[in-house]
Amino acid sequence: MATTAPDPEFYYPSEDIVSKAILKDWDGTAAAALKDPAAFWEKEALELEWFSPWNKVLDDSNKPFYRWFDGAKTNIAHNAIDRHLKNFRKNKLALIWESEDGRYDRTFSYYSLNREVSRMANIIKAMGIVKGDRVTIYMGRIPEIVFAMLACAKIGAIHSVVFGGFSVDALHGRISDSESKLVITCDGSFQNGKLVELKSIVDESLKHCPTVENVIVVKRTGNEVIMEAGRDHWYHDLCALPIANGKCATEVMDAEDPLFILYTSGSTGKPKAILHTHGGYMVGTYSTMKYAFDIKDEDRFWCTADPGWITGHSYIVYGPLLNGATVFMFEGGPAFPYPNRWWQLIERYGVSIFYTAPTAIRSLMRFGEAWPNKHDLSSLRLLGSVGEPINPEAWKWFYRVIGKERCPIIDTWWQTETGAFMITPTPVVPLKPGSGTRPFFGQNAEIVDEEGNQVEDGQEGYLVLTNPWPSMLRTIYRDPDRYVNSYWSKFPGKYMTGDSARRDKDGYYWIIGRVDDVIKVSGHRLGTAEIESALITHTAVAESAAIGLPHEVKGQAIFCFVQLKPGFAPSESLSEELRQHVAHHLGPIARPEEVKFIDKLPKTRSGKIMRRVLKARAQGLPEGDLSTLED
Ligand code: PRX
Repeated sequence: MATTAPDPEFYYPSEDIVSKAILKDWDGTAAAALKDPAAFWEKEALELEWFSPWNKVLDDSNKPFYRWFDGAKTNIAHNAIDRHLKNFRKNKLALIWESEDGRYDRTFSYYSLNREVSRMANIIKAMGIVKGDRVTIYMGRIPEIVFAMLACAKIGAIHSVVFGGFSVDALHGRISDSESKLVITCDGSFQNGKLVELKSIVDESLKHCPTVENVIVVKRTGNEVIMEAGRDHWYHDLCALPIANGKCATEVMDAEDPLFILYTSGSTGKPKAILHTHGGYMVGTYSTMKYAFDIKDEDRFWCTADPGWITGHSYIVYGPLLNGATVFMFEGGPAFPYPNRWWQLIERYGVSIFYTAPTAIRSLMRFGEAWPNKHDLSSLRLLGSVGEPINPEAWKWFYRVIGKERCPIIDTWWQTETGAFMITPTPVVPLKPGSGTRPFFGQNAEIVDEEGNQVEDGQEGYLVLTNPWPSMLRTIYRDPDRYVNSYWSKFPGKYMTGDSARRDKDGYYWIIGRVDDVIKVSGHRLGTAEIESALITHTAVAESAAIGLPHEVKGQAIFCFVQLKPGFAPSESLSEELRQHVAHHLGPIARPEEVKFIDKLPKTRSGKIMRRVLKARAQGLPEGDLSTLED
C-alpha cells in the first residue's frame, strides 16, 4: 500500500486499467529484462511459432551487424495469419475498413484475410517474383495494401511501400534504388474528396525504371487510367485467372531473411532503405503491441497512420495481426467532410484503442469540443500518440475530451529504424504529459554529450540506445557502410537516434527533437536534401536551403531559401511556383510553407550551408557563433 500521497505531477491509471492489464508488474519485468535482455526476448519469441528453433537468441559477434534468433526458420505471415486459422480466431475479424466517403465498409475475418493474401501471393508468384525480389507498393489506404504487404511476406519477397502522398521523384527514386521488378498500385486514391491520380504518377516514375516488368493496378476510384499493354494488369482481371485461386504455401524463411525495406530521410543525401527481417521484427512488434497497447481479443484497435510509414507497417499490419487482434483502418483523414469524422468512426465501430499523432490532435482541437462531444466515445480504453513530441496542452485535451480522463495515453517514441517502440509506457505506468516515460523492456537509453559521456539528469543531450533489440534495422539495403556511419560511428557501441532529449529525476525521458537535418512535418519525416534536390530541378534555382521551423499545428513546417540564377528576379508568383514545384515533384506533404529569396546562402568555408544561421534569422533569434562563416 502506498504510504505517501500521489505526486501531482503524475497521471495515475485507474484500478480498473491496472487490474485488467496483461502486464501488472512493470518494475519487476523491466528490471529482469534489463539484467538479461536476451532471456526476455527469448520468452517473447517462444509465444510465436517457428518452423525450427534458433541456435542463439542474439549473435553479436560482428557488431553492429547484430543477428537475432539466428538459425531459426519462420515467416511473419505464418504468425500473423496462418497461426490464427487453427483456433477460434479463424472466424474473428482481422480487418475492418471504411471508405473516405463512408459509403462502403469491408470486413475480413482471419479466414478471409488468408484467402485474400493467398490470392495476391499466387498472382505475384505467377509474375515471376521469387524470394528476395523487391516489390514496390504504392497505394491509398485500402485493404489491398495490407494484402499486398502480407502477400510479399508470405512468398519471401521484400516489400518496399512508398507512401501514397509522395509524388514522382520520390517514387521513382525508391523504385529504381530498390530495383523492384513489380509495382502494385491502384487507379487512384481519395484525399478529402479529391482524386489523387496514383497510376499516372506511377507511369511517369516508370519512364526510367528498367527493372520493373509488371504493374498490378487495383481499381478503387474508377477514373480513367492508361494501361500499358504487356506491363499493366488490372488486379480484378488477374483474380479471375485460375492461377489466382487455391492455397499458397507460406515460404520457410530464415529469421534473418529480409522482410521489407522502407525508405526514410536522413540528414544528407538520398533517403535510406531501412531493412527489417522476418524473425526479429516479428518478435519486436508482437511484444511491444501486446504490452504497450495491452491488446486483447475483445479490442478494436485503430491506428490512424498510413501503411506507407513505419507506424502503419508495425501497428496497422504486423503488430496487431501477430497478436490476433481486430484492426480498423480508415481510408480518409480526420476532418473530412467534417471535424467529427474520426469521433464518428470510434462510435460506429466501437474502437477501444485509438493511436494517432499529435499534429492530428492539435488540428482537431481547433474545432472545439462540441464535435467529439456529439459522439459516444465510451468504447475507448487506451489512447496512443506517435511521431513527434506531444505538447502538454494537446496531451491534456486528448486525455480529457477524448479519453474522458479514463484512458491512459501511450506516448510511444520510436523510429523507422527501431521497427518497434523503444520508449513507451504500458497502461500501468504513471504518466507525465509530454513524456514517453521510460525505455521498453530490455532497452536502455542514455543522454550523452558530444564526447559520448552521460550528462546529468535534467540536461539536454544526444539520445542513444545502448542495447541491441530484435526489431532493430539490420542495415541500409546494399549500403552497410552508410549503416555503420549513420548510426554507430559517432558513439561507438551505442545506437545514435538522431534525437536530442533529456531525462528527469524520475528517469522519464523527454524528447526535444531531431539534431540532424530531418524535418518532421505533421509527423512525416522529410529530409532537407530531398526538398533541396526537388527545388534545384527548377530552371530559376541556383541553390537552395530547406529548414524546419516551429508550426502550431504541424509541429514543424518547411521554409526554403532560394538563390536565383542570373536573369531571374524574385517575385510572389515565382515563390508560389516553387512551392508548387516541390509539391509536384516530391508530394503535397513536402510543399514548403514559404519560399524566400536570398542573395547568398550562409556557408562555412568548406561550403556547408549553415542552416542553423538561417533558422535563427528566420525566427529573429541570435545567430550564435559565426566564426566559421565563409564571409
Ligand atoms: O524525432 C523522433 C520522432 O520521430 C522520429 C522518427 O521518425 P520516423 O522514422 O518517421 O518514425 C515515426 C514513427 C515511429 C524520431 O527520431 N518521434 C517519433 N515518435 C515520437 C517522436 N518524438 C517524440 N515523441 C514521440 N512519441
